[in-house]
Amino acid sequence: MKKIKVGIIGGTNGMGRWFAGLLKKEGCTVYVCGRKTELGIIDLARLCDVIVVAVPITVTADIIRQVGPLLTKDALLMDLTSLKKEPVKLMLTHSKAEVIGCHPLFGPQLKDLSGQNVILCPARGEKWLGWLRGLLKKNKLDVWESTPDKHDKMMAIVQVLNHFNTISMGMVLADTNIPLDEMDKYSTPFFRTKLDIIKKLFTEGPELYVDLITENPEANRMLDIYEKTIKDIRGKIKSGNKAKFKRTVTKAAQKLYGRENK
Ligand SMILES: NC(=O)c1ccc[n+]([C@@H]2O[C@H](COP(=O)([O-])OP(=O)(O)OC[C@H]3O[C@@H](n4cnc5c(N)ncnc54)[C@H](OP(=O)(O)O)[C@@H]3O)[C@@H](O)[C@H]2O)c1
Repeated sequence: MKKIKVGIIGGTNGMGRWFAGLLKKEGCTVYVCGRKTELGIIDLARLCDVIVVAVPITVTADIIRQVGPLLTKDALLMDLTSLKKEPVKLMLTHSKAEVIGCHPLFGPQLKDLSGQNVILCPARGEKWLGWLRGLLKKNKLDVWESTPDKHDKMMAIVQVLNHFNTISMGMVLADTNIPLDEMDKYSTPFFRTKLDIIKKLFTEGPELYVDLITENPEANRMLDIYEKTIKDIRGKIKSGNKAKFKRTVTKAAQKLYGRENK
């Protein structure tokens, strides 16, 4: 069978490099480009059956606009962006190719892929979908299909709410001026877990996490709920209404886990 040729724009680093490794292992011929590579976007479009956009979120739209018109309807145009609504819409508008939005829900450092989630948003054509789904599943990933709209709504929880919460806690810790090694002496296992998450986010390049929050179209809706909840809890604590605070927490516990906390 003819070897599939895949071109990854943004394949020199991060998720693009991770995907290049996976595809090579599966027998594909892989070409990558970044801003300083010899091969560029035009070369990849000319050489490849499949083009993957894996550049930072803020330049994704521009790259799709550049590469989309260079592809034929037999090709596949896909992306690895952490948001799906805007990239999928742009891939459909700016190319005739088959289009699949793809979001691996993990970072490029992860060694064991088994059981990790990948969301696919198939948007045009059927020819390439089986190939992509098959190679992800072969590598023990759990593959789910979604619409771009539902995906971004879910990411407002998994990324916006989650990372906003981590960033704000890290900022409060910095504001206390208490050194981390001092905090460590007083840490519980629960607190250590949180400190590890904060450290990962703040030291591994907070730029991606900031983009995940600011670029999500559902971010403000989610953060309004978060702000309202904090104000509400704070109000109950301030007013000394311990019973009401307890009732609110119990109600949420019941809704989430179907049981009342003792
Ligand atoms: N990191 C994660 O945990 C993660 C998880 C899932 C999805 N994603 C998604 O994956 C995408 C890439 O994120 P990442 O974290 O992998 O980023 P990254 O590590 O910063 O890598 C970005 C890649 O894009 C290239 N690049 C940057 N600007 C470019 C431009 N104008 N033209 C061509 N290439 C360019 C870079 O190459 P040069 O620097 O060599 O130019 C590099 O190869 C994003 O859409 C992100 O949402 C990331």
